[in-house]
Amino acid sequence: MPIDIHRDTATQRADYTIDQNWDAYTAEEHAVWATLFKRQVRLLKDRVVPVFLDHVDGLAMAGDGIPDFRRLNDILHKATGWTVVAVPGLVPDATFFEQLANRRFPSTCFIRTPEELDYLEEPDTFHDVFGHVPLLLDPMFADYMQEYGKGGLKADGQGALKRLARLYWYTVEFGLTRTPDGLRIYGAGIASSAGETVFALEDRSPNRVAFDLDRVMRTDYRIDDYQETYFVIPGFRSLMKATEADFTPIYARLDELPDIPSDAVTDGDHVLNFGTGKYHRERQRKTA
Ligand SMILES: [Fe+2]
Repeated sequence: MPIDIHRDTATQRADYTIDQNWDAYTAEEHAVWATLFKRQVRLLKDRVVPVFLDHVDGLAMAGDGIPDFRRLNDILHKATGWTVVAVPGLVPDATFFEQLANRRFPSTCFIRTPEELDYLEEPDTFHDVFGHVPLLLDPMFADYMQEYGKGGLKADGQGALKRLARLYWYTVEFGLTRTPDGLRIYGAGIASSAGETVFALEDRSPNRVAFDLDRVMRTDYRIDDYQETYFVIPGFRSLMKATEADFTPIYARLDELPDIPSDAVTDGDHVLNFGTGKYHRERQRKTA
């Protein structure tokens, strides 16, 4: 099979970016986007923070195919100063943080095959663009992402990448938030997954716990399946506030404490839902 131009590292620049090569997408690739897009827009209604779908519209993302990053950036850059840059796959942590700190979001530009609609080994452009980019149009969340990048650059020299990765995981990827109408999704990992959209919000299996920075930074996470615990923020403003302090003393403090397993509920937790754990128990039984 020829190398997919959208995953080709041969043309990678020093900062790991490549051209999106939008003209090279096939009709089949656009059709995969269209299928995923239509399904998620339908599922996310009344499940995602309302600004998310507003921003999908605001960025002129549509169900007819993979967005052209040049068009996206025309709108995005004018609005919040962010730019989406294409990369052929995962980039090293330091590069990722550097890009975020400069308001550049590294996004893959390849798309899963029709056989992989619900299964992804690594993030593709549907996850990166549909899941992440809408909230970059939100001024508060756009600032949070940049601050995260700056924090990452700092943590890199402090041996604290594990803690920062957990913060990203449980907010940017798998975060839930309270709204006047009930719990809503804002994490890209959930918003780009049909199965997890319903599971994270409605299944009784996972724990849903109020966000606490120390707690999140101590908690392991699943990379192979739905999460066992979701953390709930009161809103983007309070997430910014909760994460604005210098993390250096926090890292030192947490190094004295044990990690918390991904399925645990602890004494200090403000629990919104004590998970039954049923989903993961059954999965484990099946694979045992
Ligand atoms: Fe992601």
